[in-house]
Amino acid sequence: MSKKCIVIGVSGGISAYKICSLVSSLKKQDYEVHVLMTKSATQFVGPMTFETLSGEDVILDMFEINGKTHVPHITLAKKADLFVIAPASADIIAKVAHGIADDMLTTTFLAATCPKLIVPAMNTHMLENPITQDNLEKCRSYGMEILESGVGYLACGDSGKGRLPEPNEIEDKIKDLLYTDKFLEGKKVLITAGPTQEAIDPVRYISNHSTGKMGYALARAARNAGAEVTLVAGKNHLADVPGVNMVHVVSAEEMKDAVLPLQKKMDVMILSAAVADFRPKTIAREKIHKNSGLGLELERTTDILATLGEKKKKGQVLIGFAMETENMVASAQKKLEKKNCDFIVANDLREEGAGFAVDTNHVTIISKKEERDLGLLSKEETAEEILKYCLKG
Ligand code: CTP
Repeated sequence: MSKKCIVIGVSGGISAYKICSLVSSLKKQDYEVHVLMTKSATQFVGPMTFETLSGEDVILDMFEINGKTHVPHITLAKKADLFVIAPASADIIAKVAHGIADDMLTTTFLAATCPKLIVPAMNTHMLENPITQDNLEKCRSYGMEILESGVGYLACGDSGKGRLPEPNEIEDKIKDLLYTDKFLEGKKVLITAGPTQEAIDPVRYISNHSTGKMGYALARAARNAGAEVTLVAGKNHLADVPGVNMVHVVSAEEMKDAVLPLQKKMDVMILSAAVADFRPKTIAREKIHKNSGLGLELERTTDILATLGEKKKKGQVLIGFAMETENMVASAQKKLEKKNCDFIVANDLREEGAGFAVDTNHVTIISKKEERDLGLLSKEETAEEILKYCLKG
């Protein structure tokens, strides 16, 4: 399975600068992003900015690249899973409504057969002009999606309709169009992610190498599949996931306190957090303060997964994770039984590309009836496959 490919066409408008953060955000989420610009767009943002953010060439001239002739518009048009034009000026809307293809952007757009999204941004009077409105109607009649402009102060000094929607709104719309299979519509999903930190004293703590990436990818994938998602996350460096209820915690105890009261209303619970198994006892905290490290006594943290397993209600799906260093399948099977889970997603920590602090993962899903090896995938792809395997009817 390859990454989803999004082509973003940027036309000339002051709000082109907002597309920089959109490209950056999509790229961080492991999408392949290509930016095409009209000549006038380059007056507002330099192609170098988009090249750096997307990691891909920004092709402006369809006939010559590095002195060579190519047909990149056809290659890109075939590759695209979604074509977005944002900001879409009155001029570009008029062109695409009438099949005009006179530059790299419009030619690729005409050649693309994927879903298309137009995000208009312009002066209110230009937008409200019946010519533009007719052109937008024509675009709709060809099956293109239009994301309505916002109302507010415009860069030209007027106030009214015509503002480019915020990058996160555009991103949400992009996700809606990319993921049409809403197999978790109406489901409430709770996910735990990241490490917990167990304070030894005000300065030191016990923790582990978890980055939270797998849990965050699961939250995004569940949201994309239509679920109402709550993500309970230990300390990490990742940005909050838009469209997800975020709950930030530090210790295993806080994670437990955040998760247990929510169990009743959840349909699915996925515990991908690497919870510290031990924490210092209170008395040890005092001792260590004076003794700098000596006399550290530990006690077990509450096993959140096992507690949820004990109270599991009918129809509720409980998915645990397991980090194993040997006998992966056998150990995971034991965990499945012991913690009363429906699935255990097992990682072999000894394998390259699996586990902490890498962007790929190689997991095996263990259920009561079988085991399924998903192979080496990106964490985003692993997340989608886990959800499909465990939750899609
Ligand atoms: N887990 C939890 N609460 C804890 C410890 C672990 O909810 N206090 C959850 C993890 O989120 C994960 C699963 O239990 O979903 C398995 O964690 P793992 O550390 O692999 O298993 P342990 O039961 O701790 O067994 P061991 O470390 O001995 O392999």
